[in-house]
Amino acid sequence: MAKDNDMIIRVAGEGGEGVVSTGDFIAAACARAGLEVYTFKTFPAEVRGGYCMYQIRVSSDRVYNQGDSFDVLCAFNGEAYEVNKHLLKPGTCLVYDAPGGDLEIDTIPEGVTVYQIPMSVAAKELGSYRSKNMVAMGALSVLFNLNEATLKEVLTKKFKKKGEEILNFNLKAFDKGKELGLAHKKVDSWRMADAQGKKDVIIIAGNDAVGMGAIMGGLEFFSAYPITPATEIAKFVATHLPKRAGTLVQAEDEIASIGQVLGASYAGKKSMTATSGPGLALMSELLGMAFMGEIPCLVVDVQRGGPSTGLPTKHEQSDLFLAIHGAHGDAPRIVLSVEDVKDCIDMTVDALNLAEQFQCPVLLLSDGSLAFSTQTVPTPRPEDYKHVYRKRWNGEGKFLRYIMTDDLISPITDPGTPGGEYIATGLEHGANGAPSWVPANHEAMQRKRHDKIQILATTYKPTEVDGDGDADVGIITWGSTIGVAREAVARLRAEGLKVKGFYPKLMWPMPIQEYEAFGKTCKKILVPEVNFQGQLAHFIRAETSLRPISHTICGGLPFNPSMIVDKVKEIL
Ligand code: COA
Repeated sequence: MAKDNDMIIRVAGEGGEGVVSTGDFIAAACARAGLEVYTFKTFPAEVRGGYCMYQIRVSSDRVYNQGDSFDVLCAFNGEAYEVNKHLLKPGTCLVYDAPGGDLEIDTIPEGVTVYQIPMSVAAKELGSYRSKNMVAMGALSVLFNLNEATLKEVLTKKFKKKGEEILNFNLKAFDKGKELGLAHKKVDSWRMADAQGKKDVIIIAGNDAVGMGAIMGGLEFFSAYPITPATEIAKFVATHLPKRAGTLVQAEDEIASIGQVLGASYAGKKSMTATSGPGLALMSELLGMAFMGEIPCLVVDVQRGGPSTGLPTKHEQSDLFLAIHGAHGDAPRIVLSVEDVKDCIDMTVDALNLAEQFQCPVLLLSDGSLAFSTQTVPTPRPEDYKHVYRKRWNGEGKFLRYIMTDDLISPITDPGTPGGEYIATGLEHGANGAPSWVPANHEAMQRKRHDKIQILATTYKPTEVDGDGDADVGIITWGSTIGVAREAVARLRAEGLKVKGFYPKLMWPMPIQEYEAFGKTCKKILVPEVNFQGQLAHFIRAETSLRPISHTICGGLPFNPSMIVDKVKEIL
């Protein structure tokens, strides 16, 4: 493997040139060979054209993020080179489409290994310009020791569906690329690690993992309206839920989808939807009703660059304000976030269960980076996940839907339960569900609905602390930035610096005691996050005694570890 057992290949070109397929194939082949994989891709909002990039980080150790930069750049066109040339540092490697491509390089940066592969010309000679990407992949396989058998296996699996002819010209293109790659003198340090033997893992993207978590968590009803970057969740659920006797509906818009979710949940089904920021904004009115009517439901928000249509295919963590406080009246929700693809499975199960247990809306925040990131995760098994269902009425005594109980959670019934009839409207109500305008009743009911979820702050502990003892700088971050912070903390500690991390996944109610305990061990607190206003830092200032330094970026891309390392050093 290149250098220190960690290699990053960046494939870049134009949307429509097959960058994504190439990256997917390399990632899948490496995972099948027993390596740990973390991918990151970014592409334009146009279906064809525009800069498209897919980065594959491969290691025999666990990888937590996409890495700082690349070791190998495979440029399909001139734009890909122009965008990335400042990152071609000594020790990196460039593979590009030449001769015959649209790129002419006058001066090769010193210390950069360069391989010219005539991808376009070779593909045209074979009779299919479409297979240019497979010529490139064939060349990469021999130049960097990627396993040929597994690459051909994944290539065949994908293109077989498109017909024998397409499969065959792509296999020929791959072989041609190999031949072109073999004509070059290989640099020995550029070798992907040999296969480690098969591990009990799968490689899966964040959105698919949320869908898988929904199935593992016992989902029964799903309704959504397609929106980038969340649509793949519905696609996954559409494939798997009907086989398990569940129901999926593609609604006419986000308001209809949350309405259907509430209806199905009222009918007794574990229900959810998935959307992105603009869709969540549309749902806010009915989420108020879910809070008022104590109707369990899960909304997954795959955050994208906003506001408005914003940067629909780009990464941002800017819906925390909307998720926590985007409601009319006082209507808090349980808000969770995910760190990585494994979390996308585990936290979706948790989120479904918490909605049932607390009979309220739960919001789960993923993001554009995780949505399309494929990672290796231990093979999930249904028996590892427990299913929690709402506390149902036992049929004894008089049924009062909103009766006060010790834990503030009132037993519920499914429609048709004899003696268990009730109405769940958006109106304030008394214990039996009938409208009530009595001032003391509204106060008591608001307190019930607010207080019932507070217990989570001290009993549900997905938060992790990374590092012991006292620290000069403590890093608090959330979502996919956690993986970047983990590597930054490890690097800084390896240099002897006193740094630790705090990674909350229960965003609301905030586990304030945990924040305070962590804060007591750190001289300074740094909060890196991908949004403009420093949204988590804001909540920390508002809810705890900590006074963090906010460190934000919002260019549509995630942090890389060096950015956090550098900021910590600046503070120190
Ligand atoms: N031979 C035959 N077909 C090939 C091929 C080859 N050698 N290489 C790729 N393809 C096919 C792929 O299988 C894919 O077809 P499919 O959709 O049937 O699976 C198609 O060509 C596109 O290739 P792919 O590698 O998946 O993508 P790309 O790197 O060319 O990039 C997208 C294109 C998909 C990223 C981009 O153009 C896109 O669609 N962006 C979406 C924008 C969006 O969501 N906008 C919403 C705004 S609200």
